Amino acid sequence: MDLGERSYDVVIGCGLLDEPSAWRSPASDASAMIVSNSTVAPLYLERLARSLQGRHYRVHSVELPDGEQHKDWSTLNKVFDALLDARCERATTLYALGGGVVGDVAGFAAACFMRGVPYIQLPTTLLAQVDSSVGGKTAINHALGKNMIGAFHQPRVVVCDLDTLSTLPDRELRAGLAEVIKYGPIADWAFFEWTERHLDDLLARERPALLHAVGRSCEIKADIVARDEREGGLRAVLNFGHTFGHAIEAGLGFGTWLHGEAVAAGMVMAAALSVRLGMLDSEAAARLTSLLARCGLPVQAPALAIERYIELMRLDKKRRDGETRFTLLEGRGRAVIHPADDALVREVVAQTIRRST
Ligand code: NAD
Ligand code: GLY
Repeated sequence: MDLGERSYDVVIGCGLLDEPSAWRSPASDASAMIVSNSTVAPLYLERLARSLQGRHYRVHSVELPDGEQHKDWSTLNKVFDALLDARCERATTLYALGGGVVGDVAGFAAACFMRGVPYIQLPTTLLAQVDSSVGGKTAINHALGKNMIGAFHQPRVVVCDLDTLSTLPDRELRAGLAEVIKYGPIADWAFFEWTERHLDDLLARERPALLHAVGRSCEIKADIVARDEREGGLRAVLNFGHTFGHAIEAGLGFGTWLHGEAVAAGMVMAAALSVRLGMLDSEAAARLTSLLARCGLPVQAPALAIERYIELMRLDKKRRDGETRFTLLEGRGRAVIHPADDALVREVVAQTIRRST
């Protein structure tokens, strides 16, 4: 991840949790705080703590409750409580061991504690390995909107140990694949076609396929973030499917649909909107829908009231001058940020909403 003096490595491989010498991180004689959750800690915390013993003179840990519904102030405060209880200092390094929720909360805690301490991402879900751990966006949710309170704070290194994906529930693997599938339509159509060909290998968790999917996804993301770290414009293309997706997550209640599931349905909606605006051919949109469906992801939107969608999307961070703006596809492998009027958006929502039979 090329960001001048804040550049860092994204290390991808197997057995990395047990091999800290395989990933360069700032030498530290200070303490460490591992932030994990009640599901991931029993699986991997002890191994990581053992690996870090030689690197830090004290290794502490804090276990957060699991779930998107806990990505909030009270969970964030648990990290601050643990840091202060353990007398941590400005040189303390935080280690985020878990999925995107742990990564976002731990990263935000690192951005705030003593006005900023270093942190390292050790993502253990596919979604976190291909997306949330890279790029320095950290946040918690607000009852009124997704990821509304947060900070940009880059990690010192990202360590994607593919072995951790072996314990990931199938539904979570599929949700992570939604973010892998996202990269092709927005930036690299050949990668989309590779994903079409290798979906079965990915679902079977074959290491070479996972390695390529995580590697190429991180390359695409790193290239975009390097050009627009603070989302002045370009970085918003990574939000393909997210304007609709965030509305689905908030509208159903955080944690009802997984983030990747909401993004999948959101991408179908954004592609449909792109077709309606004459920006994308309908065959490309159909191929995207079909790949997501093969992956077992939702391709229809949940039946919230259409006005509820419109209201929730008014909170989108891309909104400007009273207009909701969407990440849309302008051809295959190219995304742009584009406004769309409410009438057209209502039609697209109505078209993609799940019909009960
Ligand atoms: P998650 O963190 O909730 O993890 C999914 C589930 O898998 C959890 O129950 C978790 O405990 C469990 N788990 C994690 N690793 C496991 C493993 N190896 N084995 C068994 N179980 C495991 O969800 P997620 O999909 O990783 O991340 C979604 C979050 O990421 C959302 O809050 C989203 O907003 C955020 N996100 C952030 C960015 C960013 O740029 N910061 C980008 C995309 C998504
Ligand atoms: N996941 C969107 C971003 O990092 O910008």
